[in-house]
Amino acid sequence: MLSRVVVTGSTSGVGLALSHALARSGTHVVLAARDLVRAAAVRDSILAAGGRAEVLPLDLADLASVRAAAHALGDAPIECLVNNAAIAGARGTTRDGFEIAFGTNHLGPCLFTRLLLPRITGRVVHLGSGSHASVTGIDWERCTQGTRSWTGIDEYAVSKLAVTAFHHELTRRLRDARSPVLSVLADPGDVATRAYRHVPWPVRVWMTRSMKTPDEGAETPLFCVRGTVEHGGAYVDARPDTTSATSRDPALGRALWSRSARWVGLAEPS
Ligand SMILES: NC(=O)c1ccc[n+]([C@@H]2O[C@H](COP(=O)([O-])OP(=O)(O)OC[C@H]3O[C@@H](n4cnc5c(N)ncnc54)[C@H](OP(=O)(O)O)[C@@H]3O)[C@@H](O)[C@H]2O)c1
Repeated sequence: MLSRVVVTGSTSGVGLALSHALARSGTHVVLAARDLVRAAAVRDSILAAGGRAEVLPLDLADLASVRAAAHALGDAPIECLVNNAAIAGARGTTRDGFEIAFGTNHLGPCLFTRLLLPRITGRVVHLGSGSHASVTGIDWERCTQGTRSWTGIDEYAVSKLAVTAFHHELTRRLRDARSPVLSVLADPGDVATRAYRHVPWPVRVWMTRSMKTPDEGAETPLFCVRGTVEHGGAYVDARPDTTSATSRDPALGRALWSRSARWVGLAEPS
């Protein structure tokens, strides 16, 4: 049983299934979410089943909200942070003017992770996606503009490359600092969730019919939260996996780390 685990995006899909699974095993789950009505309903169902849960307001597309959420968590230790929340297929910019997928899926979680790191005692689990391997770099200029592709899928892939590169860079930095905290990447596989709600109805039904259920999709993240994993490991179907060469490139990791720090307003030692 884990003491306190923070799960972002706990109102839907994989994050919802993961939150219930953790609560069933006695873990106190912090349900970090932007939709407070749905989050309260999740909390109430966990409490009704005898579990422990609380709601934390968090909008990852708003850096002020990320800072407020990190502050609201207080000084008590956090055993694990699960950076699960993400958007796919959306277009636009975040409140701070970053491309919506890059800002929501990478920059918000990056700031949240870095603010919480001194309080995290066990692990940071990032939700990856095989789509990260479909792109071979990050166009920094496009990260500060509105979504260019019609479907937003290209930008989603770039955001997941950023998540994966951030995981590898965090791994290197924690190792250099001799920190006991583990960084782990979980790819849930193809899961039939609200992530596909932008896909037109008949295509959506056809696409999602052979996908995992949210409970099945939560198995790898659950394994990464409490199973025997390696620092820096990436897992698919609860088994070790390899991420793309681009995502593991230390030069990309360093550039992403320092650029992201500047963009989210974190001071970096010179
Ligand atoms: N489904 C797949 O096939 C698949 C494949 C590979 C990787 N993944 C990854 O698995 C993770 C979970 O995805 P899912 O399929 O479970 O998606 P989902 O059902 O759409 O759930 C996404 C969650 O993220 C939350 N979220 C979105 N934007 C947010 C914001 N600005 N601030 C705070 N929370 C926000 C959503 O909240 P709202 O309810 O308020 O929208 C929702 O709770 C994601 O990281 C995704 O990239 C999924």
